[in-house]
Amino acid sequence: MEWAERSMPVLRQIRERFAAQRPVEGVRVAACMHVTTETAVLMRTLVAGGAVVRLCASNPLSTQDDTAAALVAAYGVSVFARHGVDRDGYYAHIDAALDVGPEFVFDDGCDLVNQLHTSRSELRDGVRAGCEETTTGVIRLRQMAADGALAFPVVAVNDTDTKHMFDNRYGTGQSTLDAIFRSTNTLLAGKTVVVGGYGYCGKGVASRARGMGANVVVTEIDPVKALDATMEGFSVLPMAAAAGVGDVFVTVTGNRDVLRAEHFAVMKDGALLANSGHFDVEIDVLALDAAAETVTRGVRPNTDEYRMADGRRLMLIAEGRLANLGAAEGHPAAVMDMSFADQALTLEWLVAKYADLTPGVHEVPEAIDAEVARLKLEAMGVTIDTLTPAQADYLSSWQYGS
Ligand SMILES: NC(=O)c1ccc[n+]([C@@H]2O[C@H](COP(=O)([O-])OP(=O)(O)OC[C@H]3O[C@@H](n4cnc5c(N)ncnc54)[C@H](O)[C@@H]3O)[C@@H](O)[C@H]2O)c1
Repeated sequence: MEWAERSMPVLRQIRERFAAQRPVEGVRVAACMHVTTETAVLMRTLVAGGAVVRLCASNPLSTQDDTAAALVAAYGVSVFARHGVDRDGYYAHIDAALDVGPEFVFDDGCDLVNQLHTSRSELRDGVRAGCEETTTGVIRLRQMAADGALAFPVVAVNDTDTKHMFDNRYGTGQSTLDAIFRSTNTLLAGKTVVVGGYGYCGKGVASRARGMGANVVVTEIDPVKALDATMEGFSVLPMAAAAGVGDVFVTVTGNRDVLRAEHFAVMKDGALLANSGHFDVEIDVLALDAAAETVTRGVRPNTDEYRMADGRRLMLIAEGRLANLGAAEGHPAAVMDMSFADQALTLEWLVAKYADLTPGVHEVPEAIDAEVARLKLEAMGVTIDTLTPAQADYLSSWQYGS
């Protein structure tokens, strides 16, 4: 946790201010997030600001047990999480975090908010507002809001520029490759890496894989994203065509069944399959299981081997769950510094302003985004220009022509 904190200067600064000003004094918070060292630094920031925090995991494989234990023992944060917990245990942990009777919630994927609208709906009216960390969670929340089902305001922290432009792109890009290296020690140079989805995460994975000498193939369903990938110099193919040429597959779409039976049937011997999208639905693991004659667990760390009847072996990383968190350490702290600075400042803002917000999905105020970018640049020692009065005048006038 101390190591992570060294690379989180923005959050450190916010924590110092929170400790002095106590802007979230006595506020009860339930947080469902990956239990990693970076999240621990966020939790400590909230506690420094006066919040009473309960944390549970947003994925059964991402919990770092030593981090969870340290948060409880040394920092007084109640944590309900254990690495590798089963489905029932996972939801029991969310319930235990909710038992705090939260006024504010942090979610990463919308599972906790979902519980508040289903099995724990008796707690719903006590919730004033929430923050959502990831793309998939924001999509689920927008669907809830469209159905008139979302009972309180939730802020889409994922949608701030200082989150998705950096965390999703550089964080997922680097840590997904890190997961592939740690689990398989594969050489990417000269290999064909197929990236399913060319959104923020996909761009990060594709550019980093190219940087290591891989031939990158992108698959997409959105014509603009496919054009973007094409002009960036990547091959774009339908997955049916990419399946037979890929050595490494990474799904980052937020969608289901991106890799499925028809693709497994034509993949090369030794193909590596990794998912870094939020839920374990992008690779159809049930179909992979059905297609395999034998399955050998743990042939390498976090890697299972599926041997097909014709002798081909397909290697699945982290059971098809978020590979970068299941088979590596998640994003580097330096990038989570911005995402979690956004979270801390958004909670502070919500505590002051929640009463002005209606139930539904809201944006983070632009001032928070700008402040986080300014603090990060300052911490990195980067300075930028300011507008001259003539430039400010020029940009705010419509009268100037050629
Ligand atoms: N692993 C992590 O640490 C991490 C970090 C951030 C986000 N995420 C998750 O990664 C996923 C992607 O996030 P994002 O911010 O890049 O989203 P995004 O919306 O920017 O990109 C997703 C892309 O996938 C494409 N797509 C959808 N269905 C497809 C299909 N069947 N085949 C090919 N492409 C398809 C979409 O057109 C879109 O371009 C989400 O589930 C998000 O929650 C994971």
